[in-house]
Amino acid sequence: MTLNRVLITGAAGRIGRTLRAGLGKRYRLLRLLDLAPLGAAAAGEEVVHADIGDLAAMEAALEGIDCVVHLAGVPEEDVWEKILPANIVGTYNVFEAARRRGTRRIVFASTNHVVGFHPRDRRLDEIVMPRPDTRYGASKAFGEALGRLYADKHGISVACLRIGSLQVKPQDERQLATWISPRDTVELVRCCIEAPDYHFLIVYGVSNNRDRRWFDRASRLLGYAPQDDAEAFAAEIRARGEKPDAIAARFHGGPYCAMEFSGRSED
Ligand SMILES: NC(=O)c1ccc[n+]([C@@H]2O[C@H](COP(=O)([O-])OP(=O)(O)OC[C@H]3O[C@@H](n4cnc5c(N)ncnc54)[C@H](O)[C@@H]3O)[C@@H](O)[C@H]2O)c1
Repeated sequence: MTLNRVLITGAAGRIGRTLRAGLGKRYRLLRLLDLAPLGAAAAGEEVVHADIGDLAAMEAALEGIDCVVHLAGVPEEDVWEKILPANIVGTYNVFEAARRRGTRRIVFASTNHVVGFHPRDRRLDEIVMPRPDTRYGASKAFGEALGRLYADKHGISVACLRIGSLQVKPQDERQLATWISPRDTVELVRCCIEAPDYHFLIVYGVSNNRDRRWFDRASRLLGYAPQDDAEAFAAEIRARGEKPDAIAARFHGGPYCAMEFSGRSED
């Protein structure tokens, strides 16, 4: 499948800027959408200022697009009043507009926090049950379910990326497992856009970290071969001797599990 007209929602954000720099000029059209300023369009780019909460605006933005990379939304835990319109209604609008406009592929920025409440001593694959650690994680589980629906019912090819932690370098001990470097992020999204036909995939967005705890079959199918390893920064981070609290240490989601925690710590 040759997909040459690509839309990125949330293009002014951290991942969006990384992709714009890394994928610019690769496709016949890179349409960039955000509420926030995007600067001037370079050759081969188009810039759209729109709210993913507006279905009509999303239909217009999806016109003529082969593949949408859907990043826009609230990228962390927040109050329900912000999560609902951006991550639930907004994601529905993007997927539904893609269906109405005949878009063939959706690459959806999900998160590792969809499976954050699995115990950290367990290595995770892509078929483990969702165990969201936050309202944010639950909203992304909704996006993954919507992706499955649009793949099965409407034949749209969908990849859900359970992204770890995009940073120039890992910031703490947890990120020695969860880190994804900017160049691996670009490569992962490039593979998702360009891989031949696939139906529905869940992929963990991590670099080739020695301490990684998430594995999937889709990476090989996509040809995603990450280059970077957080271990290069491990000595510096471990020397700090930081200790997360007991709940954060027990689960994959780390501090997101500890937030507002009022459950039974033995569960
Ligand atoms: N950065 C990471 O490590 C990471 C990890 C896991 C998942 N993700 C996911 O990747 C995506 C991008 O993350 P990021 O770090 O670039 O976040 P970011 O906050 O830097 O970028 C998100 C962008 O979306 C835009 N946006 C928000 N609401 C919008 C709306 N209603 N309409 C149009 N645009 C809107 C914002 O203006 C912003 O530019 C998010 O969906 C996030 O959940 C990121």
